[in-house]
Amino acid sequence: MTKISPCTKTYTLNSGYTIPAIGLGTFVADDGKESEVGDSVKFALQNGYRHIDAAMYYKNEEDVGRGIRESRVPREDIFVTTKNWNDERDDIEGALNASLARLGLEYLDLYLIHWPVSWKKGTEDVDETLDYITVYKKLQPLVKAGKVRSIGISNYSQPKIEKLLADPEVTIKPSVLQIEAHPLLPQPELFDYLTKENIIVESYSPLGANNAPLLRNETIIEIAEKNGVEPAMLLISWGVQRGAVVLPKSVKEARIISNLNTFTIPEDDFATLNNLANVEGVHRVVNPPWNDFVN
Ligand SMILES: NC(=O)c1ccc[n+]([C@@H]2O[C@H](COP(=O)([O-])OP(=O)(O)OC[C@H]3O[C@@H](n4cnc5c(N)ncnc54)[C@H](OP(=O)(O)O)[C@@H]3O)[C@@H](O)[C@H]2O)c1
Repeated sequence: MTKISPCTKTYTLNSGYTIPAIGLGTFVADDGKESEVGDSVKFALQNGYRHIDAAMYYKNEEDVGRGIRESRVPREDIFVTTKNWNDERDDIEGALNASLARLGLEYLDLYLIHWPVSWKKGTEDVDETLDYITVYKKLQPLVKAGKVRSIGISNYSQPKIEKLLADPEVTIKPSVLQIEAHPLLPQPELFDYLTKENIIVESYSPLGANNAPLLRNETIIEIAEKNGVEPAMLLISWGVQRGAVVLPKSVKEARIISNLNTFTIPEDDFATLNNLANVEGVHRVVNPPWNDFVN
């Protein structure tokens, strides 16, 4: 019998703070109702989640904040992340204050640079003066001001992170890198590099993003059936077992509950999943035009 239980695993970030291994995603794709998210946040927090992944770009921080308040879970028990969007780079402190106001919070647990490209305010015109290192450095004073406990990056490649860490003015290391990660995009070299650097990987789109296409992968279905679990539970457990934070999104109550459950994947099945992209090919799902700036 497979032992399934709600995941209580946490990691200690290089900032000293603790992050729960599973967080609720809040990106609602175009076919979703934005107001659903506040209810999903409230439901998740009332059912064991302690970690919420938000972003200014998702245009629902107010609703996320409503969910947090209505859950009545004490603020200090919740790990809240939001992200700085590409056109908010000229005044990062102002952008953070605006996010905090929308969320109804006094501080964030984690603030991320969403993508390593900056646009001029209100446009998608690249602002060359605000490169990915310059904008990261603008996060550092926010930690000192007590508005943000940990800072990090998203969608940065290894060469970019190496350059960032080599910059003498980078005095606070990023605590996390948030990237797309699942068995068809495992990124093992990047993962190993970050482990050595004591930077935690946060896996976004762990089910393959909108409509969860990875749940229809035959190998994943087969391994899930063999272990008597749902494919979603297998994918989330895989991410947690490899030592990453996993950020599944759902607005459906039964899924929100089941997505917090994990089990220990037997070694042979874990190895098959680790090798899946070598057999079936790498598959990136999230590929916006600004992905060109990642490498
Ligand atoms: N940093 C970045 O650039 C970035 C990019 C993308 C995502 N993210 C973050 O990562 C989070 C997760 O990624 P994602 O939203 O792209 O995709 P995801 O979590 O991989 O998949 C979400 C899809 O799976 C469905 N789903 C969820 N649980 C399920 C289950 N147990 N069984 C069947 N279907 C299920 C959801 O539908 P229902 O809601 O209807 O259940 C939704 O269609 C985002 O919400 C966001 O917070 C960050």
